[in-house]
Amino acid sequence: MAPFAHVIGWGMAVPERVMTNDDLAKIVDTNDEWIVSRSGIHSRHIAAENESTAILATRAAAQALAMTTVEPADLDLIIVSTSSPEHIFPATACLVQDALGAARAGAFDLSAACTGFIFAVNMAAQAIRTGSIRTALVIGAETLSRLVNWEDRSTCVLFGDGAGAFVMQASDRPGGVLSCVMRSDGSGASLLSIPAGGSRMPTTAETVQRKLHTIQMNGREVFRFATRVMASATKEAAVKAGLRLEDIELVVPHQANLRIIETAARALKLPMDRFVVNIANYGNTSTASIPIAICEATADGRIRPGDHLIMVGFGAGLTWGALALQWVSPERRPTPARRGRRRFLTFLAHVRSFFRRFWWRIEGLLWGAEPRGRT
Ligand code: UT7
Repeated sequence: MAPFAHVIGWGMAVPERVMTNDDLAKIVDTNDEWIVSRSGIHSRHIAAENESTAILATRAAAQALAMTTVEPADLDLIIVSTSSPEHIFPATACLVQDALGAARAGAFDLSAACTGFIFAVNMAAQAIRTGSIRTALVIGAETLSRLVNWEDRSTCVLFGDGAGAFVMQASDRPGGVLSCVMRSDGSGASLLSIPAGGSRMPTTAETVQRKLHTIQMNGREVFRFATRVMASATKEAAVKAGLRLEDIELVVPHQANLRIIETAARALKLPMDRFVVNIANYGNTSTASIPIAICEATADGRIRPGDHLIMVGFGAGLTWGALALQWVSPERRPTPARRGRRRFLTFLAHVRSFFRRFWWRIEGLLWGAEPRGRT
């Protein structure tokens, strides 16, 4: 029988710096009343200069791994879902792989905006269920504060930075990922985008001056689209998993706007206490919002082993999706000795990375700019 794909560890990381609505009102023409009533956001975390997407992703991943007996070297796959990667390439996932010392893992980024974490968890689950891999690390990480136009009040008040991570593993115990709905509609691509900086509109002085490297959004249209798809995707994922909505203990929606979540709850005829909502403290952290909400809900005891959850999200692309899963308790917690060993292995991974970087240089000096093997 195909193995089940379980979430056995979870972790989150947010920058220390908190920016309140009042702080924002000092930068743009806005106020706390407008932001709270239109979005439900009170504050958000903003990355410090020395923080970036890979750094937040690595912190969340280390926390998730620390819950488990999985060593970085046991990881077969690392997927980082992000819309604010460190670079166009290399993938942020490769930087996380190096920082963790996950020497055997294939690593790549997945770009599906705020829906990305759902897609990434499903990709990892499918690879586990086919038997092609056993253990995966899935991360949603963003530093969107680097990509917003801080002069545009209609967008800069909405977004925040953060990361969330799942360790996923094959298991014979029933549960884990039960179903997934993945959808997209590129005809709505222009409703939410960063137009410049890619191959379509390479960077020029003009693109920089016109702020085309920052988030551009038609908020009203995205709002309408979101309210259409949230309820339908949730229902579809439940049906595919063979569940009724009454069987779902908690819905974990993408945290983009409290009003969108309330509209979805009304459409599903579910009370708001069946939804995990933490947008007030984080704003919209895009693909990181769902795993961060799950980490908080488990810490609060709202998610318990055996619970059926639906994660549901939408975002740029346009993309949307929902994933049903049955939460399980981690099989084994690491012992203090094991945690000590992990710290030592992480240290060794950094030493290894240092020497490999050094070796790339030596190799370059030995072989020059010519590719190896050419005479
Ligand atoms: O992860 C997915 C990403 N995006 C989303 O999910 C966003 C979906 N959309 C939304 O959440 C909402 O559309 C917003 C929160 C962005 C905006 O709420 P809204 O109720 O749709 O407001 P609006 O765009 O219709 O703007 C209403 C008014 C406008 O003034 P006028 O034209 O009516 O005079 C805006 O200029 O509010 C004004 N406004 C603001 N006022 C104070 C826009 N932004 C602000 C602001 N502070 N920050």
